[in-house]
Amino acid sequence: MTDLEKMQGDLLGRIAAADDLDTVEAIRVEALGKSGSVTALLKSLGKMTPEERQAEGPRIHGLREAVTEAIARRKATLERAALDAKLAAETIDMTLPADTPLSGTVHPVSQVMDELAEIFADLGFAVATGPEIEDDWHNFTALNIPESHPARAMHDTFYFPEAEDGERKMLLRTHTSPVQIRTMMQHKPPIRIIAPGRTYRSDSDATHTPMFHQVEGLVIDKGITLGHLKWTLETFLKAFFERDDIVLRLRPSYFPFTEPSAEVDVGFTVEKGKRVIGGSDGWMEVLGSGMVHPKVIAACGLDPDEWQGFAFGCGIDRLAMLKYGMDDLRAFFDGDLRWLKHYGFSALDVPTLSGGVGA
Ligand code: PHE
Repeated sequence: MTDLEKMQGDLLGRIAAADDLDTVEAIRVEALGKSGSVTALLKSLGKMTPEERQAEGPRIHGLREAVTEAIARRKATLERAALDAKLAAETIDMTLPADTPLSGTVHPVSQVMDELAEIFADLGFAVATGPEIEDDWHNFTALNIPESHPARAMHDTFYFPEAEDGERKMLLRTHTSPVQIRTMMQHKPPIRIIAPGRTYRSDSDATHTPMFHQVEGLVIDKGITLGHLKWTLETFLKAFFERDDIVLRLRPSYFPFTEPSAEVDVGFTVEKGKRVIGGSDGWMEVLGSGMVHPKVIAACGLDPDEWQGFAFGCGIDRLAMLKYGMDDLRAFFDGDLRWLKHYGFSALDVPTLSGGVGA
């Protein structure tokens, strides 16, 4: 056995036997550090004749590689074992009684979603859901937003890297409208659903967060008109804000998936310097809506001559801010317990129409 082989056998043996990270590190310094034994051998290459170097070079480099690799492998094993031990030691027994009073509260967004479900259930609407990771077809194409449509750029979409086959382009849904498509393809009309959930756009400031919440509404039946849409929205907003003096203003607008389209403003009054919903001193935009475009109905395999309907989409975070008087949207997602304590709801505050939805 040459000296090099003996040295390698000795080092690898000690690395394998090291049972903590400090010992491994000490061996690394001793062998590969500035004045380490293997480093010294590497340095000695410089003083050799070319012939000697040709013979010794590969052996010394081989030694260094073997030692480096053994150290990395041993480190990884020890680190994994340390993590396993930590995880095992830190398990929480969820069945034990809590020794401090529970401090969690229901987040205002969850509360508003419950209120929406409650209000719309009373009007005969079911709650539908869809995936947050959507494909391009459901999020855009089926909603009459073809590839070249400028609305695609307006949505600031988060796309996933292209799939191998380049076929289904996946994205984070930019609105809840794809749930319209999924519902129409899965269920025969008449349809009456709302679809609350998370939506995503690459946008961030005091009034925009990259993840936000929307609620979609969809009605498909025979003989549905704009009048049904207006009545539904009025009834919903009156119940939600718990006021009878809610005034709506429908403004002509444009969405590729509705025709005609209307943006809906709700009137507010100013009380003690704060905007309060109700009356008509000023107007605030709260949702987008319209009659479902015949092309969208046809894309879902239904006959647009037989079936018509309306749809609307509304920002839930904004609804919560307006109802509960919060002014910075970003606080919704900070997870600050003090904020939650101030604005949150007790788990026992179940919204009911008879008790008032915000009771
Ligand atoms: N999806 C639209 C948006 O996010 C809102 C909308 C929904 C408009 C349904 C009309 C009908 O801006």
